[in-house]
Amino acid sequence: MRCVDDFRLRFGRRELVPIMIGGMGVDISTAELALEVARLGGVGHISDAMLPTVTDRRYKTKFVSTKQKQYKLNVHKADKAIVQFDLAQVAEATRLHVGKTMEAKRGNGMIFINCMEKLTMNSPRETLRTRLCSALDAGIDGITLAAGLHLGSFPLMEDHPRFRDAQLGIIVSSLRALQLFLRKNAKLNRLPDFIVVEGPLAGGHLGFGMDWAQYDLRTIVAEIQQHLQAEKLDIPVIPAGGIFTGSDAVSYLETGSAAVQVATRFTVAQECGIPEAVRQEYFKASEADIEVNMLSPTGYPMRMLKNCPAIGSGIRPNCEAFGYILDANGNCSYIDAYNRERALHPEVRRISVKDKICLCTHMRNYDCWTCGHYTYRLKDTTRRNADGTYQTLAAEHIFRDYQFSTDNKIALPA
Ligand SMILES: Cc1cc2nc3c(=O)[nH]c(=O)nc-3n(C[C@H](O)[C@H](O)[C@H](O)COP(=O)(O)O)c2cc1C
Repeated sequence: MRCVDDFRLRFGRRELVPIMIGGMGVDISTAELALEVARLGGVGHISDAMLPTVTDRRYKTKFVSTKQKQYKLNVHKADKAIVQFDLAQVAEATRLHVGKTMEAKRGNGMIFINCMEKLTMNSPRETLRTRLCSALDAGIDGITLAAGLHLGSFPLMEDHPRFRDAQLGIIVSSLRALQLFLRKNAKLNRLPDFIVVEGPLAGGHLGFGMDWAQYDLRTIVAEIQQHLQAEKLDIPVIPAGGIFTGSDAVSYLETGSAAVQVATRFTVAQECGIPEAVRQEYFKASEADIEVNMLSPTGYPMRMLKNCPAIGSGIRPNCEAFGYILDANGNCSYIDAYNRERALHPEVRRISVKDKICLCTHMRNYDCWTCGHYTYRLKDTTRRNADGTYQTLAAEHIFRDYQFSTDNKIALPA
């Protein structure tokens, strides 16, 4: 019986353990997690979501307070169009986080950055260009284009000296999205180095509608493999979403996938950014505690635990400090929902907003508990302590379990 370690992911002459840990914003897939995965010979991800906020916390920069001070007179205004990011600061934050992470890298694996298109930051093209190019400047091994169609993202990096040597890939959830991407970028003579095919059971935002349950990862992966074969395109395909055991992974590797991307099992790793109390909520969750909803102001469905503090919270939008979801015109659907409720209940101090969440503040504070479909199985991957809590796991333990397990078994910690 074969295990994941019988296969290798190849990028040029490089050979890796075919396990990629998906990007999880905002600093859930930490540098520590990515470094551990690289040390073990796989591919780890950091995320570029809200990096100025992340570097403030990690490296004591002052990006958030500087921006907040600059725009403080705008706090009570509904119009957020003037709240622009300073591109030099976005570049500095990206270079700092990527640079420090890459400096610390050991082992034969690689570290990529997950870059979300839907983080429109009140100036979609320029902030995206800055984030992509600064990550390349700082020596990232690769970039995974995520959360959005990214039709114009390759041209934004085209003039960068590393455009043709860094590993650049894209996440898609359908053959159609892939075809659109390939068609739009045909002129560049630069194919993606890998394609992550993310199915409907993944965590974070989903590339499906609310009819997500009608789709199935295996079918989408097979369609994409057939298309690539027919077009004679040799691009590694990496399925993601609901791959919970080493055996699940092997079933994809045996049918032509180059690697798998996984995330949910690592949300309870000691190295991941989720605070311990929240990790316990992930462990405790039952299937009925998890939902896919339309609360994210990005407009994409998102999977999360129903009991997370973000849902129903009516906090004041904090776009002067954050503002990552603001579109090209300075709008965010949470601001509209918040202003509507404020106008309806002028006498109430703490209002509740039920139809949208303030994604920036709640993700930053680990109050939006986004998770994969199989989060309810995490309790079966560990042991319980005498006080009823669950033992968190070392990332190495989870990684090696994926790498070596057979027979759908999951190794419990010692
Ligand atoms: C807590 C959490 C946060 C996530 N955040 C992001 C993100 O910021 N960007 C992204 O492209 N994918 C995100 N994902 C999706 C993962 O990178 C990955 O593709 C997917 O969850 C794999 O499926 P699995 O969780 O069933 O293993 C997230 C997943 C989880 C569980």
